[in-house]
Amino acid sequence: MSTPAATPLTPDLVHWIPASILEPASVTELFPQSGPLCVDYGCGEGAFVVAMAKRHPERNFLATERLAGRVEKVCRNAARLGLSNLRVLRLENLYTAKFLLPPGSVAVSYVSFPDPWPKRAHQSRRLVQPEFLAAVRRTLAVGGELRLKTDDLPYFQWMEKVVAEAVGWERGDWPEDPAEPLTNFEARFIAQGLPIHKTRLLKTEA
Ligand SMILES: C[S@@+](CC[C@H](N)C(=O)[O-])C[C@H]1O[C@@H](n2cnc3c(N)ncnc32)[C@H](O)[C@@H]1O
Repeated sequence: MSTPAATPLTPDLVHWIPASILEPASVTELFPQSGPLCVDYGCGEGAFVVAMAKRHPERNFLATERLAGRVEKVCRNAARLGLSNLRVLRLENLYTAKFLLPPGSVAVSYVSFPDPWPKRAHQSRRLVQPEFLAAVRRTLAVGGELRLKTDDLPYFQWMEKVVAEAVGWERGDWPEDPAEPLTNFEARFIAQGLPIHKTRLLKTEA
């Protein structure tokens, strides 16, 4: 007897539209296999999260992005590669961390090259703020981590200040991994010879 053919993965199946955004989502039900959940906040065109999902089939990945065109592109690429361990959510980063993801549900969170908002009058729009750090911390399991990367030195200094004032984190070394996939922006900045600033934070008990 022949086994039934697996349903082909389509971009629509990668795009996650929660039944409700007013209550915490059941994220474990999003993926066919259980595994540590990694979240890429503001994934852009998704080169990093797509490559990570391909490289780590034993992990599950959720990518958030506010721009519809970018969401569609990441969904298309994930579907083409058959990545059932990647879902893409078109929702605001802070809202996702603060309200949608259940507490303690995430192993690793990535924030790569968030918009720097260089004008002083716009700095309140920066993603890395005390409220966002607290929201991400709530979503992480104990020992879970947040990895921040930026090319923008003033924003990096801002991040360091926010981190220094936050509770419930300790610093971790950034593991050397020459094969770690680059984000779209990272590849561009490296090609321009720009330095990349990185911080890795581990959630502690208190
Ligand atoms: C500078 S790009 C970096 C993209 C990607 N992380 C990379 O490194 O290539 C920042 C991305 O975050 C998205 N973004 C900005 N603010 C956001 C928000 N509040 N919620 C969700 N996505 C957001 C933007 O649309 C953009 O795609």
